[in-house]
Amino acid sequence: MLFPLQKSGAPWGKLSKVGASFEGSAIHLFDDAESAKNLRSVEQITRSLCRAGADRKSLVIAVGGGVVGDVAGFAAASYLRGVELVHIPTTLVSQVDSSIGGKTGVNLPEGKNLVGSFYPPRLVLTDPELLQTLSEREFRVASRKSSSTPSLRTRRCSRCLRKTWKKCCGGIAKPSAS
Ligand SMILES: NC(=O)c1ccc[n+]([C@@H]2O[C@H](COP(=O)([O-])OP(=O)(O)OC[C@H]3O[C@@H](n4cnc5c(N)ncnc54)[C@H](O)[C@@H]3O)[C@@H](O)[C@H]2O)c1
Repeated sequence: MLFPLQKSGAPWGKLSKVGASFEGSAIHLFDDAESAKNLRSVEQITRSLCRAGADRKSLVIAVGGGVVGDVAGFAAASYLRGVELVHIPTTLVSQVDSSIGGKTGVNLPEGKNLVGSFYPPRLVLTDPELLQTLSEREFRVASRKSSSTPSLRTRRCSRCLRKTWKKCCGGIAKPSAS
């Protein structure tokens, strides 16, 4: 199981319960900064899997935003030439986009997402309540990004986005989806 490493050392709100429900699993805490989306992190995660005795029947569970999903996805695709992958996305971008399409990968100093593979997850577990701890800024930027996805430009989707926004941020301002 891969968890984003928090500055405070503890997972956000409801995520602490997610961790507790997988007691007994090997947990790899990961610095989920974009700067850590690299091959060194893939090496660290796969070595950590090795040390935990993970075999072909093991499961990698990526809990976090797009950075965690992309790196963990690539590690799952590469370790023993592929072990099962489950995403528990915790940001808006990861819930509506990155956890779904099966794209995994990391950056090189030469550019973004240059090494990776298509590796669809076995399962994506999405809970909008996990978005409650996102900062207003994260939510606003992500809702702007997601509203540029054609399939999300429907009235129903923008209503749903507004509702989630209201719940998460008290409706401070409207998200940009229309
Ligand atoms: N694979 C794909 O198809 C695909 C699609 C879109 C984006 N991406 C990639 O996704 C990455 C961006 O992902 P992102 O927008 O999810 O941001 P992110 O993963 O960088 O997370 C942004 C910040 O939010 C924090 N965070 C995550 N969940 C939280 C929560 N529930 N509460 C509070 N804080 C939380 C993280 O710690 C981080 O500091 C980029 O690397 C991009 O290339 C991949």
